[in-house]
Amino acid sequence: MTLKKIPYLIAIDGPAGSGKGTIAKLISKKLNLNYLDSGAIYRVIALGATINNISSGEVTKLISLVGSINMKFEGEDVLLDNKVITDKIRTSEISKFSSEIAVHSKLRDEILSLQRSFYHGNGLVAEGRDMTTVVFPNADLKVYLDASPYERAERRYKQLISKGNSVNIQDLTSEIEARDKRDKQRKASPLKIADDAKVLNTDDLTIGQTVDKILAFII
Ligand code: DC
Repeated sequence: MTLKKIPYLIAIDGPAGSGKGTIAKLISKKLNLNYLDSGAIYRVIALGATINNISSGEVTKLISLVGSINMKFEGEDVLLDNKVITDKIRTSEISKFSSEIAVHSKLRDEILSLQRSFYHGNGLVAEGRDMTTVVFPNADLKVYLDASPYERAERRYKQLISKGNSVNIQDLTSEIEARDKRDKQRKASPLKIADDAKVLNTDDLTIGQTVDKILAFII
């Protein structure tokens, strides 16, 4: 498949468990574009803060932490100060903590240039909460992926169980609803549908069908 133009920039936003990660990664491979999982950046900061006993309200310390840690993304792996922490940032505790620290606009500003640096070469597929609205407002294609809270909780449940975590679906549903509320209601870059975004509800779509629908927007 050929792109309309090169470089090409696809921005995808949506709530937790809407499938953004899986979908964005597959599209980036198909189109030979870079991939940005912006949530992973917030998760690495949250893990670093936990290790250094920094609480979610200590914005000055969080900002200096961002300046002092070494964050790397190598293929499927995420590294913090040269240690592989790929699975450590996917726990329920880090999900909650990353959403709590993400409310600070000064912290968000601090990682803007890091996020934008992923846009080079052929282009980028970036996914998160504010890719279509704040980080890449001029994206060539904007997509808002949604799914019902129940469907999203079930997807996260399967994902976490397959990695050997012990979780229960009721707890996951409440966690997802609390995170949705925080991510949508915060003042700084809240999750919302950009005016020019294509909205896709993935409740009844397979991964392959969702990818195909997004690719069809490009042609
Ligand atoms: O996409 P994720 O579930 O890995 O993101 C974890 C948290 O990070 C999410 O609950 C809120 C925050 N986040 C954000 O505020 N902005 C982004 N672009 C991506 C994630």
